[in-house]
Amino acid sequence: MRPTEAMDRPVADQAPPSPRLPPAARADAVDTVDADVPAAVGRVLDALLAERVARATALDPVFGRDLAARVARFTLEGGKRTRSQFVWWAMRACGGGPARAEAALRIGAALELIQTCALVHDDVMDGARMRRGRPALHVDVADQYGERYADAGTPAPGRRFGEAAAILAGDLALAWADDTVAAVELEPAAARAVRELWSALRTEMVAGQYLDVRGQVASAPSVARAVRAACLKSALYSVERPLALGAALAGADGTRRAALSSAGRCVGIAFQLRDDLVDVYGDPRRSGKPVGGDIRAGRPTALVAVARARAEAAGDRHALAVLRRSLGRADLSESGLAEVRNVLEATGARDTVEARIGRLVDRGLRHLESADLEPEGRRRLRGLLHAAAGSPPAPDGTDARVLRSPLMAARADGPVR
Ligand code: IPE
Ligand code: MG
Ligand code: MG
Ligand code: MG
Repeated sequence: MRPTEAMDRPVADQAPPSPRLPPAARADAVDTVDADVPAAVGRVLDALLAERVARATALDPVFGRDLAARVARFTLEGGKRTRSQFVWWAMRACGGGPARAEAALRIGAALELIQTCALVHDDVMDGARMRRGRPALHVDVADQYGERYADAGTPAPGRRFGEAAAILAGDLALAWADDTVAAVELEPAAARAVRELWSALRTEMVAGQYLDVRGQVASAPSVARAVRAACLKSALYSVERPLALGAALAGADGTRRAALSSAGRCVGIAFQLRDDLVDVYGDPRRSGKPVGGDIRAGRPTALVAVARARAEAAGDRHALAVLRRSLGRADLSESGLAEVRNVLEATGARDTVEARIGRLVDRGLRHLESADLEPEGRRRLRGLLHAAAGSPPAPDGTDARVLRSPLMAARADGPVR
């Protein structure tokens, strides 16, 4: 059908089909999901996105191909499903079972879509050209049209078009995420809790992103401000709120919800501190994103805030001068970046941040251990929390401190998002 024909039809005829999962996805037994949560979330996303892309394509084939299919591909082909695993295992750890399985998977899928929105927009704001080892979405769109129009002898539409398309792609992902949550069927108390958490996490992520970009033009933030931005832009929507959503789905009491939220807050901050280290010390082949982006953009990371504070306290004029002339220099050379790395090490900022990650993970795990949880769920959450902070999973019964030997802790190269 041509799009104009679809437009001509009465609105009632165009009502979308009920967005319930197809039988295959709904039939997943809880133990099938337990065995492989990312695969189960992937099946839900497959079904959900196939239907969304089909509707978008019916609306307009160009929109369907250029934006909807790109959002679907980005969501399906990458990511570690960290947030959806947190929802699932928090739900299971709090005693939730078959009655909550579909809701947990759908909310997990919605979090993956929020993540698509966050990353696609983030790469525009950060001017990052690479994501998950591929061209960032705005770069991909601009390149595709650049080639197509170049063939036709028309000038390439340039960067602005790619960025505009990526803003819309992120909006689309966010709209689909909201639709997905709104369609989850729950009894009133759980529905209210989910609504409140969902609303909070969306706003918190935007607040954190704003503080982050503002930090590039405002005066250098204190360590406390930088950690606060890290908490808002990552800890809450990536770890704390997903855990709280899982607990809410299981109808967990306030004590368990609070313990899981606190665990998520601590480890979520550690997750962003690890990301800051990956930016400076990571290997793009493993992280899938460029190295040195935060330094070249002058982003106010906690790592840099610690270096500056320590250099000031020590009266280290050389370190302060290096930071002043390097931060925010888009054309900073490799040797200039190496000089910044030296300053981060000489001031002790790198070690300080590593140690802080270790302490946050310890504290987060203590919160986890304090809660009355199902053993298997607790074990899985322990592993996920370790992985989120870039530490290896704790073998059962291992004290978290053992894992902070320098060898185990120096893992600044793992893929993070
Ligand atoms: C982005 O933080 C956080 C969100 C996407 C909300 P970063 O800008 O540090 O993330 P990366 O390093 O590009 O993945
Ligand atoms: Mg970024
Ligand atoms: Mg950013
Ligand atoms: Mg980063």
